[in-house]
Amino acid sequence: MEVSSSNQKTIERVVSQRALQMGSSFPCQICVVGFLCGVCIASLFIAALTSFGTFEFGRVSLSMGITPWNSSSNIISDPNTSIELKETERKQDYDNNSRQEQDGHRIALLYSAWSSMLRESSDVADEFLRSVGLSRSTLPNAPYLENCKLSSELNRRLDNQAKNESFPPWVSWKGALDTHPASSSNEQLKDFWHQETSKGSNPPWITGSDGENYPLTRKVQRDLWIHQHPMNCSDPSLRFLVADWETLPGFGIGAQFAGMCGLLAIAIREKRVLVTNYYNRADHEGCKGSSRSSWACYFFPETSQECRDRAFELMRSEDAWAKEIVTVKQNYTSKEIWAGRIPRRWGNPWSYLQPTTEINGSLITYHRKIDRRWWRAQALRYLMRYRTEYTCGLMNEARHTAFGKEAAEHVLASLGRDWPKV
Ligand SMILES: *[C@@H]1O[C@H](CO)[C@@H](O)[C@H](O)[C@H]1NC(C)=O
Ligand SMILES: *[C@@H]1O[C@H](CO)[C@@H](O)[C@H](O)[C@H]1NC(C)=O
Ligand SMILES: *[C@@H]1O[C@H](CO)[C@@H](O)[C@H](O)[C@H]1NC(C)=O
Ligand SMILES: *[C@@H]1O[C@H](CO)[C@@H](O)[C@H](O)[C@H]1NC(C)=O
Ligand SMILES: *[C@@H]1O[C@H](CO)[C@@H](O)[C@H](O)[C@H]1NC(C)=O
Ligand SMILES: *[C@@H]1O[C@H](CO)[C@@H](O)[C@H](O)[C@H]1NC(C)=O
Ligand SMILES: *[C@@H]1O[C@H](CO)[C@@H](O)[C@H](O)[C@H]1NC(C)=O
Repeated sequence: MEVSSSNQKTIERVVSQRALQMGSSFPCQICVVGFLCGVCIASLFIAALTSFGTFEFGRVSLSMGITPWNSSSNIISDPNTSIELKETERKQDYDNNSRQEQDGHRIALLYSAWSSMLRESSDVADEFLRSVGLSRSTLPNAPYLENCKLSSELNRRLDNQAKNESFPPWVSWKGALDTHPASSSNEQLKDFWHQETSKGSNPPWITGSDGENYPLTRKVQRDLWIHQHPMNCSDPSLRFLVADWETLPGFGIGAQFAGMCGLLAIAIREKRVLVTNYYNRADHEGCKGSSRSSWACYFFPETSQECRDRAFELMRSEDAWAKEIVTVKQNYTSKEIWAGRIPRRWGNPWSYLQPTTEINGSLITYHRKIDRRWWRAQALRYLMRYRTEYTCGLMNEARHTAFGKEAAEHVLASLGRDWPKV
């Protein structure tokens, strides 16, 4: 503003001098008008380019030019309407633009502060915050960032047996994997389901009401966890199935999951603890230490470290192979893995699936392989029950990239215009 108004004054002065010098004769009037129009166009042009409020100058100089000359130009003869409108518009534009510019800077500042908190070590992040005049206490939280250290610590506690060998608090442990009537009678299943859900087996990784989850999800998840976490992994009666993830080049991640779901089904049927081994998608620098090439890089391991150790120990024992205490993927045909029976331990819960697919006006209540879909959902839900800190960080990064800027905008809108000045 300061700059532009002083600019205007100098130009005005030049223009008035010129007008005085030339305003006495007719041809010169033409010159003046021509000159003024040139100035006017130039100033409008500059205004458009820079959004400076130079209009005041335009009006003054135009009225000076008009005095001796009746022009047919509408714009000049009627300064009130079109030109005054333009003036206020441009002033608003100026305000709007500078406000938008400020907002843009604030958003960029907040976003880059969140970026440094996400990507840098805390020392480097603090250094960055200081360099832009912020501190942790004045930095609003990014609503989409999870505290990965804290949540993986909490999950570890929920997923571990206590030192005194009791199960985690959420398991209503009864001493053995349930032996309930695996009946397909609907009445019995209903009773059983009711019993189970009211008993409060609550695997903490299952959220939402039972109605929002597949039938028997809480029960099945709890049983899977207990099956995969025997109290004493050295118990000689335990048997193991050690399986690599599929690595054939044509296999996408979905096929790998489906294959492992089949192997988990086999493990449950044969009462073996499933131990997953080489996972090519975790075979990279991001997966540090023992999590390299392992499912445990992304999600909590499918079984305890004790059981993994025990399984690998057994693999070195000829006796264990001979007695089929340990088996590997190669011991099963691909038909068994990909199309084998799913565990019937829980009856036919899929018959309670809420039908949602409508074809030709009627809801489809049953379709081919509905049981397999139910099982794969359960198996994957179990395998992915807790993200590791690494995966949590990847998700944070993905959310930050996808909508960090938008979130910064919303957060700033709720903070008022004072931030970052307190
Ligand atoms: C200028 O306009 C005024 C008012 O519209 C009119 O009275 C006058 O005659 C005009 N002068 C010339 C030179 O056209
Ligand atoms: C122009 O503005 C003056 C005062 O600002 C007002 O009296 C006049 O009615 C306006 N003319 C038109 C055409 O709006
Ligand atoms: C400037 O902003 C105001 C309020 O935010 C709005 O009403 C007006 O239309 C805007 N003007 C321009 C030229 O964008
Ligand atoms: C296991 O330890 C927890 C706390 O450390 C205790 O509350 C619980 O009673 C113990 N359970 C058994 C079976 O000793
Ligand atoms: C686990 O079982 C083995 C073999 O039965 C036994 O030697 C060991 O003491 C048990 N460990 C615990 C902690 O009970
Ligand atoms: C399983 O496969 C291994 C090697 O692939 C073999 O040594 C072992 O005998 C097989 N076990 C059974 C029960 O087929
Ligand atoms: C839908 O219904 C129409 C008429 O009842 C029938 O001609 C058509 O084949 C049906 N389509 C499917 C996919 O069942």
